[in-house]
Amino acid sequence: RERKRKEGVNLLELAASFFRERLKMPEGEAARAYLDKRGLSPEVVRDFGIGFAPAEWEAMRRHLGERGISEAVQIEYGLLVHREDSGRTYDRFRDRVMFPIRDIRGRTVAFGGRVLGDAKPKYLNSPETPVFHKGRELYGLYEARQANARLDRLVIVEGYMDVVALAQFGIRNAVATLGTATTEDHLSRLFRVVDEVVFCFDGDQAGRQAADRALRTALPMMIDGRQARFLFLPEGEDPDTLVRREGAKAFEDRVTCASPLSEFLFEQASQGRDLARIEDRERYASQVLEAIGLLPEGVLKSLLLTELSRRTGVDQSSFESLMKHHGEAES
Ligand code: CTP
Ligand code: MN
Ligand code: MN
Ligand code: MN
Ligand code: MN
Repeated sequence: RERKRKEGVNLLELAASFFRERLKMPEGEAARAYLDKRGLSPEVVRDFGIGFAPAEWEAMRRHLGERGISEAVQIEYGLLVHREDSGRTYDRFRDRVMFPIRDIRGRTVAFGGRVLGDAKPKYLNSPETPVFHKGRELYGLYEARQANARLDRLVIVEGYMDVVALAQFGIRNAVATLGTATTEDHLSRLFRVVDEVVFCFDGDQAGRQAADRALRTALPMMIDGRQARFLFLPEGEDPDTLVRREGAKAFEDRVTCASPLSEFLFEQASQGRDLARIEDRERYASQVLEAIGLLPEGVLKSLLLTELSRRTGVDQSSFESLMKHHGEAES
């Protein structure tokens, strides 16, 4: 198994340096112009190992083939695609800016590739392979650790470009999930490195939905000493567009002012409800209670129950017995 991992990682390192080389060559001109247009300096491009997949069907296959790597292995690690119907085998990544995804030790385990224009899909990612599980890796985590002798908090953003753009502005503590929702696996990885995470979602409908899911994923993991906060960006913005428009200082201020989990939890439950009405207040209380029920036993849980009772005027002991009943019904 370990041998397998080494074989895969070596192959992916070869692929990563192939992409980096191609970015520097004449054929990489359009990709370099694209990165420049997006405001990325050669230094940041280098730090993140960004490259370019040429607009060819078998450049990678030839490159790796000449180095003795079989097509079967190239397919297994997601660099080649084999189509059963046509029987054809060809390079997965073509004419895209390539972002290597590195594991915590800096080994390339997968790639994300972005088109230079508006073609679809905008991003193409490596498939699940023996070394890559989407729900586990975080883009930028290795780079964040490299850039900071000490890390206190990590900001979780949605996209590759968000991580890289923030780094360009000197904000070198952002990581991105790879086109999936934040999982428990992601969070336990992050909490091994820092005690505080700040979720930062795009200012759109998808971003708000992602925040709701992130809250539910985070709640059971809130053991004492850990913190999660939630940052909502203005409509239509993502961290990349916002840091460009407002600069690093303003973005850092937003991060510093992000809502603590406790506030977001009450805030979210009050959305669309008129708390002057008893029925709305009942649904509000149920929703908050359900969330509190997901928390591990601890001080935070007690404090939130007290706060819920203060906000609704209902005795805390009533909530406690209600929650106990819920717990029993579920188990
Ligand atoms: N994503 C993906 N496949 C897609 C679209 C998105 O895997 N077809 C993932 C990528 O990791 C992407 C993230 O979801 O970075 C966020 O998507 P989106 O906000 O649409 O892209 P941006 O990161 O903002 O990309 P850009 O600024 O380059 O348009
Ligand atoms: Mn798997
Ligand atoms: Mn979005
Ligand atoms: Mn975005
Ligand atoms: Mn973007």
